[in-house]
Formats: sequence, structure tokens, C-alpha cells
Amino acid sequence: MCGIIAYAGEKNPLNVLINGLERLEYRGYDSAGISVLKDSDIYTVKAAGKVSSLAERIEADTQLEDVSQLHCGIAHTRWATHGGPTESNAHPHLGQNSRIALVHNGIIENYQELKNDLLAKGHTFKSETDTEILAHLIESHYDDDLKKAVSEALAKVEGAYGIAVISKDEPDTIITARFGSPIVIGLCKDEVIIASDINAIVQHTDRVVYLNDGDLAIVNKEGISFHDLTLKSVQRDEEKITHSAEEAQKGGFSTFMMKEIHDQPRAVRNSVRGHLDFDNATTSLGGLHMNPKELASIDRIQLFACGTSLNAALLGQYFFEDLVGIPCQVTQAADFRYRNPIIEKNTLAIALSQSGETADTLAAVHEAKRKGADLIAICNAVGSTIAREAGRGVYLHAGPEISVASTKAFTTQVSVLLQLAILLGRTKRLDRGQAADILKAIDQLPEQIEEVLKLSDSIRTITEKYTDVHSMFFIGRGYQYPVALEGALKVKEISYIHAEGYHAAELKHGPLALLDEKVPVVAICTNKDSAQKIVSNIRECSSRKSPVIAVVSEGIETPADDSITIPQAHPTTAPILAAVALQLFSFHIADLRGCSIDQPKNLAKSVTVE
Ligand code: F6R
Repeated sequence: MCGIIAYAGEKNPLNVLINGLERLEYRGYDSAGISVLKDSDIYTVKAAGKVSSLAERIEADTQLEDVSQLHCGIAHTRWATHGGPTESNAHPHLGQNSRIALVHNGIIENYQELKNDLLAKGHTFKSETDTEILAHLIESHYDDDLKKAVSEALAKVEGAYGIAVISKDEPDTIITARFGSPIVIGLCKDEVIIASDINAIVQHTDRVVYLNDGDLAIVNKEGISFHDLTLKSVQRDEEKITHSAEEAQKGGFSTFMMKEIHDQPRAVRNSVRGHLDFDNATTSLGGLHMNPKELASIDRIQLFACGTSLNAALLGQYFFEDLVGIPCQVTQAADFRYRNPIIEKNTLAIALSQSGETADTLAAVHEAKRKGADLIAICNAVGSTIAREAGRGVYLHAGPEISVASTKAFTTQVSVLLQLAILLGRTKRLDRGQAADILKAIDQLPEQIEEVLKLSDSIRTITEKYTDVHSMFFIGRGYQYPVALEGALKVKEISYIHAEGYHAAELKHGPLALLDEKVPVVAICTNKDSAQKIVSNIRECSSRKSPVIAVVSEGIETPADDSITIPQAHPTTAPILAAVALQLFSFHIADLRGCSIDQPKNLAKSVTVE
């Protein structure tokens, strides 16, 4: 949600900043802007719309033809929260006398109070954003010492921020700070790149420092120094990024989503690498830092997450209850945060998040910690806030997920939850034979996903019939129920068709009233044991004239109008295969409808505000 990039060094900052914005665009894409220090002044260019509109403006700007004097700049790509997606609301924002410029991710909660104070002092504002108020506030504290001004202004701020600030009076200096919104600093020889996300840094360096909440860093010719918000020095360690710049490219596919769907055989393989212990019929998840006694003492699980991660958590609930035999609760993270959840003794709380930055999930992490829960995180983004706050857990190793619609994060989350269920299950009731079967099934997943990917063309042919519909249902039972929810979520977010995921048994408790020939139903049927029940649900839908598309495992017959047949798999891994088929289904519908697949309207990757 919004992207920040800032640069200080000898290269042309315009190129570095625009390239960085392009890599951050998946986080927000309704407007963008850039400020550079030029002729002892701040020069700002903004544009509503995509980063390409900003790049065109900069290209055409004769004032920016000579870049030899430019060494420092800040830039931002925005996803509107306060104020619409207009040029005037785009960042950077300037102070009252244009002495400082600021880019900001997050939300200033006490902005109205701060604004009133500034208005009383004669400030006037050009935008509707909370960020402009912060820019004015910093400038109002500015007395030729930018770090001091930022520190004093931030002491008055309530809310979340990741910021980068420059001043026309301190060329080549950037001040950056974070509280609740990530900032990472890339270290290169003779240059520094600051960003809200390593994807904008990875092509320049693999050496980074992550700021902690309450950190402020000063970047200037002398180097980088780290401080707390009162400007006391703190020590921050350098870390190494493990993924390469290529992983965040489309790799020959027309969209990131299709590329990431095709990444899944490798992603799932990476999510199990080194974990499967066939000799002892268990798994080994070193990142948990829990010994067998501690694992065996867990007798309750609490999972919390949002969106696609929440759907993965629901599958985890089936795994923990079926394989481990302990109660498991899944709570939407915002609900967990606000409803005063009960954390009993011996509960393992699990935060699930691809980005590791989702505001509600992060707040739920804080709540779980406050209540003394044993906490682990399952995240994809290495070094992300949730991963760091939890301090232990399992990384998905799916590689960067750029498409707003989550795909490989879901399948690898399910893979990791299943591995965790085996590990815990083997301390309790899961016997060696059952565990060995599931390990074998997990091991086969990459090849089976390859088989599902080969169905892409035939799935596209099926979707051609349904591109004009306004509403769809996805139904499933047991393990297929969370997959139905996930299939519906994918369709609605990228094709803008209203889609609802339902437990198949719930159809007759209301939704049947909505079915007719214009409302297709996708029925997921990958379990032989419950196949007959789904078949009767399919008949229920057909008799209301709804076209039915069945996602079935080989060997299962249904009376559906169309079928997508996926390889037969163990009941615990079949949902992953069905989810991949539905990702392809939603992709093709959206593509045939001409939708902007990687950047759906009104959405952004990583929701870092409440
Ligand atoms: C849907 C999607 C979102 C995210 C949700 C949580 O395709 O991507 O629903 O799953 O915003 O994000 P993370 O997993 O980063 O916490």
C-alpha cells in the first residue's frame, strides 16, 4: 500500500527513482511523484495515474534535462487513503515555504488536531492528505537541522508512518524514519537507496538494514547513522537479501499473476525444502525454535490473518483438528484485535501473512503478545515486520509476490500449515503410516501442480462461456470449503464479477434463491468420500438452471456442465491443486473481460492501514 523510494548518490536519481517506483507500483498505483534537489531548491513533479504518466512528464520536462547536479531525491507511488487519487494529493508534499519535501506511507491519526494548530498559525494546504500536514509540521520545526525537525515533529504524531524527508538547505541529506510502516535501507558503495520494500532495492544491492519501529536514520555524505526518535544513537545490523532481482520480474509472462501461478511448483518445493523427514515420518521446522517437549505441550491453536491468508488459515484449521486432534480457532485479524480474544494456556498463536505488513494482522500479533501467547509467524516476505515481531516461525520461500491477487502465497501457506500439522500431529495422535502418506503427497505436489498448469488452455475455453455473467457461486465441503472461498475471492478481485464462496450444504439455507441460468456455480469436488453429497448439490443448482462447472479429481464423475479434472491426490493436498485450477479460472475470466489483472481497481498489495 503505497511505495517509497529515496536515493542519494552519484547516479542520475531520476532513473533510480523511476525504476524503483515501477517496482513498487504493485503497492499502489493511483498517482506518483518525485522531488529532487536542484539548484538549491526542491523540484517536484507529480502525475495522477500510473508511474508511466510520471515518467512521461519527467521525460518531457526541459528543467530536468541536465541531471549532472542531481544527487538526491525522494519518490512515492500512492494508493489513496486520505483524499482522492489526484495530482495535488500525490506525494511528495512540501512544507509551507517549500523548504522540505516528504513522502509518507501510513496514516497520521491525529492529523485534524495537528492541522488545526497549523491553520491557527497561518498555514495553508494544497491537498486533502494527512501527509501534507506532516510536511508542514516538520517544516515548522525546521531551524537548519532536518534531523532535529523530524524528531520533534514525530514526537507529536499519533499513527503509522514510514517517511523520507529532504530539505533544500541540506543537500545530499535524507532523513528516514518508521513507526508501523516498513523502511529498509539498501547499502551500496558510495550510494544509498531507501525504500518501503526490498523489491525496489534488490537490483542495486543485497546488503540492507531494516529500520525498527521508532528508528530514525540520517543518510548523508558521511554515511548512515541510526537513532531513536529522540536522536540517541542505536545500533542496527546489516542483513543480506536472499532473493534475486529476476524473481521480481515477469519472466516472459504477460502478467505477474500468470508468472506467479506458474512459479508454484518451484515455490511449493521451496516451502518444503529440508523439512520433510521421511525416516521419522515427521517434518522439521527449525524456525519455530521449539523442542519436542514444547511442541507436545501445545493443546490449542489460534490462527489469525486477512484475505487469502485467512482462507489458507481455514484450511489449517481442518489440518490441526483432523491430524493433530486439538481445537483450532481461526479469527479474522481485525476481529482478533478488537474482540478481546481468549488465549488459554498452551495455545500456539499463528499469524499468517504473505507480506508480513498487513496492519490488522500486525495489530493482532501485538494483541497476542500482550496476552502472553506463544506466537509464531508464517510469512513470505523475509525481514517483514510481522516476521520480526514474532521472532520465530516459518518463511514460505515462495519468492516475491507482486501481483495484487495472491496465488503462490496461498499454496505455500497451505503447504507450511500442513507440515506444521504433521509435526504437531506426530507428538500426539498422527500415526507413522498416516504421516508417511501425507509426506509422500506433499513431495508429489510440485509435479501435480505442473499437471494442473497444463490445463490452462482448456480452462480458458470453459471461461469463454462465462465472461458476461454478473454473479457466481463457489461451493465446497470440508477441505474444499476454504478453496471455494479462495476461488470466489480471486474472481471478484480481478474480474469484478460478484462471486461468493459458500459451504455447499449452506446453499439451501438461502443462496438457492439467487440461482438461475445467469448465475454459474463452481463446485469443488476432490474428495471421493464426500463426492455424492456434492453431486446432489450440483443437481440442486442444475435444477435451478445454473450452469455448473465442477473441479474434480480424476475418477470422480459429476453431472456438471463443464469439468476441470485435476490429478488425484491425498485429501490434504488436493485443495492446493484445486486452488491452482481456480487461479487459472479467475485469471482467464478477468483476461477475457479485459481487466487490469496485476493492478485491479481499488486494491493494493499489502494493506498497511486499518
Ligand atoms: C487477495 C489478497 C489479499 C491478501 C490480504 C492479506 O488475493 O492478496 O486478500 O491476502 O490483504 O495480505 P497478507 O497475506 O500480506 O497479510
